[in-house]
Amino acid sequence: MPDNIDNLLTETRRFAPSDEFAAGAVATDALYREASDDRLAFWAARSRELLTWQKPFTEVLDWSNPPFAKWFADGRLNVAYNCLDRHVEEGNGDRVAIHWEGEPGDSRTITYAELTADVKRAANALLSLGVKPGDRVVIYLPLVPEAVVSMLAVARIGAVHSVVFGGFSAESIRARVDDAGAKVVITADGGWRKGAVSALKPAVDEALETATHGETTVEKVIVVKRGGNDVAWDDSRDVWWDDLMEGADDEHVAEAFEAEHPLFILYTSGTTGKPKGILHTSGGYLTGAAYSHRNVFDLHPETDVYWSTADIGWITGHTYVVYGPLANGATQVIYEGTPDSPEPGRWWDVIEKYGVTLFYAAPTAIRGFMKAGRQIPAARDLSSLRLLGSVGEPINPEAWIWYRDVIGGGATPVVDTWWQTETGSIMISALPGVTTLKPGSAQVPLPGIAIDVVDDRGEPVGNGEGGLLVITEPWPSMLRGIWGDPDRYRETYWEKFADKGYYFAGDGARKDEDGDIWLLGRVDDVMNVSGHRLSTAEIESALVSHPIVAEAAVVGAADETTGQAVVAFVILRTSQADSMTPEEAVAALRNHVGHEIGAIAKPKTVLIVAELPKTRSGKIMRRLLRDVAEGREIGDTTTLADTSVMQVIHAQVG
Ligand code: WT7
Repeated sequence: MPDNIDNLLTETRRFAPSDEFAAGAVATDALYREASDDRLAFWAARSRELLTWQKPFTEVLDWSNPPFAKWFADGRLNVAYNCLDRHVEEGNGDRVAIHWEGEPGDSRTITYAELTADVKRAANALLSLGVKPGDRVVIYLPLVPEAVVSMLAVARIGAVHSVVFGGFSAESIRARVDDAGAKVVITADGGWRKGAVSALKPAVDEALETATHGETTVEKVIVVKRGGNDVAWDDSRDVWWDDLMEGADDEHVAEAFEAEHPLFILYTSGTTGKPKGILHTSGGYLTGAAYSHRNVFDLHPETDVYWSTADIGWITGHTYVVYGPLANGATQVIYEGTPDSPEPGRWWDVIEKYGVTLFYAAPTAIRGFMKAGRQIPAARDLSSLRLLGSVGEPINPEAWIWYRDVIGGGATPVVDTWWQTETGSIMISALPGVTTLKPGSAQVPLPGIAIDVVDDRGEPVGNGEGGLLVITEPWPSMLRGIWGDPDRYRETYWEKFADKGYYFAGDGARKDEDGDIWLLGRVDDVMNVSGHRLSTAEIESALVSHPIVAEAAVVGAADETTGQAVVAFVILRTSQADSMTPEEAVAALRNHVGHEIGAIAKPKTVLIVAELPKTRSGKIMRRLLRDVAEGREIGDTTTLADTSVMQVIHAQVG
């Protein structure tokens, strides 16, 4: 089957839920039965049970004009009311909503009653600036409570937020502000990251000066005080957050909007081309967020302390910092800074300080901590943890095991959650009280979600085979389009399998002998070696299972005899690799991959490097490594977290 992706790696470790965990679990296997009996009735029931609808819906899904879906279309609700007021009305106003921890060590504790009052004030402030339902507000803030308040205040008045990650440049802000036609920007006079205060407002000033269409659409810039930087000030445009809030009433009655009212636009940075403004709407999105958050993380809102380390600039920060946890009335930790500031154990200190029970992070961070050594987390009390989650890229089995053993005390379930900015919420994940876990596999679609792995013609592959990951039925939190570009929406996601009506995710995957799903990386990255389709993820996983390897990235480079050849870039663990010469290390790694996967996957070249090129959200940019491997000039590096990395790699490998 030349269309399929070959798969050769095997992993045999299994972890069944403990009896104790299963007995107290939120999600049971009844969910799978209910969803397979009647998928739409299942979603209607979840939405009614998890959300408060001001006007109940009677329609569940309108799919009469694919790929443009409407969910719960005749219902009305207010998203912010669902995240705030109703918890206060139900008597939970004193529950902590946010334990906020600033990077320099300051902290704030905010209850649901306080957060509700703040959001009402901010909503009134935005109204006083003339923000109307449907208007776009760009949020460019550090991870401070005001960021959450801003998002919810925008949602509360039916405006549309577009959060731009605080590490992005003036150029990125400009592109997003212009594409969205934003009326207001909310920023700060700085934020803490890596022990220093970044400047945020100057980037906004620059972005607004150089608007694409001559004149910017932005009328007001609201500035939160956080970093204490001196800022340039335009009296006709700029206004301090504190001044606005001081004058604003803390009474505001939330108006209900239609279920399909736009909630936010989030631009995916993508690797090339113009960023795509992914559009999410209200009722379906919030249903997906609340449902997945409660069931995947086994949330018991009365007792759990949940922490997702994501920034609000990413979809994880939208769905699993703001909307999911707050809709569910959870208590959560929000931490402003980087994992290792001011010192390498900071995350683990935060877990100990707040007694975090549910923890959600990215494999790239986990591997970073593996490299730094287990003595750092071992010096903290992490015994409060009872569940760990992973998101963003495949978590290789070695990192999975380390995460469970070292962070989870050898006892916690680890849920590997696959989803995308476009899917809005988790699509593939184990249910921690039900599923027997397999390290390295995201495993099974959530109840209510329909996923398959297919060949190029859209036919399902068999167990033990690889192919393309598709979503075969619409789901409530699906993107509703690309802002201002319906054609691009159709082409990007729906054209490949138009005859079947499948959403194509762009990822390769395989089904194992049990039918469980293993993600293999972006299809654009798949290599073709002597007619075999090999996944980057599998070879990388094999490499990092060798004790001398801390991180690995694999690309295919043009090769005269084999079509493409496997080229591996590896970062060594200095402590383990010291006794070897570089030649010995390379030989050991080639043999190891040959042993783990097969001779076909042995890298032709192994390049030892000090760093790998990553986006701000931690994804390896293999496109740039392909440029190096094929001896080309290196392409656009503007979306790299650290743009100097490619120069270093280039100098190292010549
Ligand atoms: C892409 C989506 C989902 C929130 C963060 C990233 C990759 C994501 C996994 C996982 C393997 C994963 C996919 C996907 N990805 N989670 N658990 N296992 N790959 O959101 O920036 O929209 O990226 O991230 O390639 O398509 P995003």
